[in-house]
Amino acid sequence: MTDTSTATAASVPLAPRALPLLGHALPLLRDPLAFIMSLSGYREMVRVRLGPSTAVMVCDPALTRQVFLNDRVYDKGGPIYDRIREVIGDGLSTCSYTLHRRQRRLCQPSFHPTRLPGYGAVFARAAELKAGSWRDGDILDVTQEMMTLTTRATMETMFSGALPEETMRRALADTATIVSAFFRRMMTPALLRQLPTRQKRRYDQARHRLSDTIAEIIAERRADPTDRADLLSTLVGAVDEESDDGQKQLSDAELADEALTFFLGGMETTAITLAWALHLLATNPDVQRCLQAETDSVLAGSKLDAAHLPSLGLASRVVTETLRLYPPAWMMTRTLRQDAELGGVRLKSGSTLVLSAYLLHRRSDLFTDPDRFDPDRWLGVQPDRASYIPFGAGPRKCIGDQFALTEAILALTAIVSRWELTPAGEQPFKPKVETSLSSRGLTLRLSERRTGIADSTELHAASPRSAPAQPSTPRAGASACPVQHQE
Ligand code: HEM
Repeated sequence: MTDTSTATAASVPLAPRALPLLGHALPLLRDPLAFIMSLSGYREMVRVRLGPSTAVMVCDPALTRQVFLNDRVYDKGGPIYDRIREVIGDGLSTCSYTLHRRQRRLCQPSFHPTRLPGYGAVFARAAELKAGSWRDGDILDVTQEMMTLTTRATMETMFSGALPEETMRRALADTATIVSAFFRRMMTPALLRQLPTRQKRRYDQARHRLSDTIAEIIAERRADPTDRADLLSTLVGAVDEESDDGQKQLSDAELADEALTFFLGGMETTAITLAWALHLLATNPDVQRCLQAETDSVLAGSKLDAAHLPSLGLASRVVTETLRLYPPAWMMTRTLRQDAELGGVRLKSGSTLVLSAYLLHRRSDLFTDPDRFDPDRWLGVQPDRASYIPFGAGPRKCIGDQFALTEAILALTAIVSRWELTPAGEQPFKPKVETSLSSRGLTLRLSERRTGIADSTELHAASPRSAPAQPSTPRAGASACPVQHQE
């Protein structure tokens, strides 16, 4: 839709301190989060330059939602998606609007709510195993530990049953190489990206090897298509009844792209969410004790499983709050497929829009005291769909959101019920900004819980602060944490 009465993109203010050839590339590479937050004064939109290209950053929640909802006009595409496709092909998260609906219909059954209890059982078992492998006094490389946990859990839910240890180890190492090289490659101009550096060689090797690993698993499954009630079986058996071009099922190539998309998209994001949650608990011991009290009273000696989820109110709020402070998908982009009007500004087909969960989640007019870790801000409160967007929104919203939340809540419960966590490294610990907000390098010290059961009576008697206004009744298992918390 074009409206001649509206302003053009040139009227959108340009972010300050653009350098002649580089634009804002230097501050964006040097400290992306500081740069993004320096734009929080712009309430609607601001232009950012990266070399010769200009992108419009959307800073307003309602406009962000408008972009998310209209995926026909604001589509996935452009140079960033070209980089991502190098790794995961044209799968559900990277494909354009024209391919999306069919792929979403074919993938959706794998994430149907009825499958969650089955996945939950795998997550709980993997988390118990991981938490049981640590020793009193260990200093954990938290990100590495959470990556092995979610890799194992993702592999088992996708491919049913443990894969050989060597396959798992190789997949993990390759994933780590790809993920850490990715953001730099995304920001590096095309010519420099092709230079035969050692980093490029390692990156290419890792992505070919990971693709080969997934292709091997799919070939085995095609050879023996017995339904194993896992994610891959559902994908192999999925039929799109609405497809009118004879392609009712996923081809081998599509299957490989989807499997890689779920594998890479799912395990890293969930692992770093868990790592940040553990960091926030370690630096907020009062919340950690409340959470231990919750897990003790909910588990009460029983084995952790998905049936406990409705009672794990605080664990769920900790995850919600972690995703607010450290949304793994801190930046998302869209390309305009046609001229359009957004917020009274005419934007041309081909323009790039940037949406940032990090910026919205830390805006002080949207969240009280936004930098404070306060799980109880969610007590009885549903997150606002426009300003809280860790999973995106609209037709391209994360298909694995409930899968990830189930995994994260169960893993957190398994860990804090056994262990006391304290910071072991540099403080404050800052995110490494890559494709996601990485917690790489985060270390925590473990102490075995001495009492086993935190004294919840004592905790809840301690000078309670007033809970935020509650528009609805808290669900079962919800209880206010009594003290103030630091990020
Ligand atoms: C805490 C964990 C996770 C976070 C924060 C997260 C975040 C996101 C976000 C923000 C998007 C939308 C991106 C955009 O609109 O540009 C997305 C899409 C997607 N996510 Fe997740 N995700 C998580 C876990 C998972 C898991 C566990 C899976 C699969 C096993 C998964 C698979 C996908 C897929 C396939 C898409 C593309 C959906 C589509 O376009 O239809 N994600 N995710």
